[in-house]
Amino acid sequence: MKNIAPIPDKADMLSVVNTDDYRLLKLGQKIAFHGALSGDNQIITGGGGVGKSYLIEVMKRHIPNMVATATTGIASINILAQTIDSFMGFRGGDISNPERMSKKLRETLKALEILLIDEASMLRIDKLEAIDIRLRVAKQNDEVFGGVQVILVGDFMQLPPVVNKRDKSYKDYAKAYGNRRFLFESAIYEEANFVPYVLVEYIRQGNEDIRQVLRNIRMGNQIQNSINYLNSAAAGTVNDETIHLVATNKKADAINRERYDSISNNERCYTATSTGDIDVKIVPDEVYLKVGARVMVCVNNQGSDYYNGDLGEVVEMGVDSVSVELDRGGIVEVEKHKWEFEGKVATDTPQDDKKSKKGLKKKKLGSYEQIPLKLAWAITVHKSQGLTLENVCIHTEGLFELGQAYVALSRPKDYADVSFSGKLEVKTIKCSLLARRFVMDISCKALARKEKDLERFDIAA
Ligand SMILES: Nc1ncnc2c1ncn2[C@@H]1O[C@H](COP(=O)(O)OP(=O)(O)OP(=O)(O)O)[C@@H](O)[C@H]1O
Ligand SMILES: [Mg+2]
Repeated sequence: MKNIAPIPDKADMLSVVNTDDYRLLKLGQKIAFHGALSGDNQIITGGGGVGKSYLIEVMKRHIPNMVATATTGIASINILAQTIDSFMGFRGGDISNPERMSKKLRETLKALEILLIDEASMLRIDKLEAIDIRLRVAKQNDEVFGGVQVILVGDFMQLPPVVNKRDKSYKDYAKAYGNRRFLFESAIYEEANFVPYVLVEYIRQGNEDIRQVLRNIRMGNQIQNSINYLNSAAAGTVNDETIHLVATNKKADAINRERYDSISNNERCYTATSTGDIDVKIVPDEVYLKVGARVMVCVNNQGSDYYNGDLGEVVEMGVDSVSVELDRGGIVEVEKHKWEFEGKVATDTPQDDKKSKKGLKKKKLGSYEQIPLKLAWAITVHKSQGLTLENVCIHTEGLFELGQAYVALSRPKDYADVSFSGKLEVKTIKCSLLARRFVMDISCKALARKEKDLERFDIAA
């Protein structure tokens, strides 16, 4: 049994079903919404654009004890929430020693009742397990996730979690997990008994033919016919407002540089100051900006209402701050940001070792201060996951990862304003067979329960 009782009484439920929010949900979204209220651990899936994140926004308004998070900065802005790393205290994505946390974080997690994670396909197996450990410790409860109700939302046919063989921690990861990277390959996933829900109605794209083609591309069916269709349907042209979706950061940098050079306004250079020996830099030592430049914000600043992944345009430049008009509305003053780096070093002498059982002590490694903005006419497909885009140019070359082409192809609303840098080819479409098996399995289970759910939740079909 969970240590919470989230099932609302009938009166509460009646007040929710009488709202416009609820009425505007599609049938599949309604069933999943009731599933969230049932208190079960839940996994909500479905292709790109079926309304998973839309449903989250409705859930946020009506389930006040739910904390919504997402796996990437942009995906978290998309649902106006925070990243899972920032909520769980995994600073810079560091999940080592999950059982150790600050008092404040422990108190926050102790009070947690429902945790939702959007774009969960990118949540790596080791992070799911670190979340489980941290919650068990904070809750002092040895049930899975410390008894917290967890709601995973995502499409496992989109991008898988990133595993970088050049990471310092890669050796330990490979030793512990081998080739496993999806969260559903974890024993914790099994232990948590996630009840599946699936949304099948495509909403992002209005055109039924495009919907069917994207369904096929998602699951790796009829690829040749599907890409022929899209190659002729993509009727857009590139202009100043076009957002370029590319495979790699290197390609994004090249396009951004070219677009930047074409602006004739004066440029201003922001120079970083640093102390110590810092090798991870989120933005370069010299950030050049001009009024009119498209930018992405790279840090959260709740006080000033800008967040990691926010996109916008530079409207004014001060000495230590830059005004940015955000795509989601409003102008914010982005200030220089100081990143403080802290590490652990072994204690110096054997005596020290006796005093401190761990044999490790904290050490300030240094700091890095810079304007937290990056040019953003082009963004990587990885960063675009979760977004609905208009006027897109999809760069077809170099798409290397499973699900990457599908993520790019499922972002636009309307293919009349999509262009491709080159023709789509069969080899561009890559699907994970493991993810496919999992997605088919949970989707079938969810669909088989549909009639029972309608009755159980008293929903009029
Ligand atoms: N019930 C609804 N009524 C009206 N519009 C909706 C509804 N559900 C979703 N939409 C719209 O459909 C589009 C796609 O929805 P959303 O971004 O939630 O899809 P998603 O399943 O989260 O996709 P992805 O897998 O790409 O993240 C959005 O523009 C959203 O506003
Ligand atoms: Mg989404």
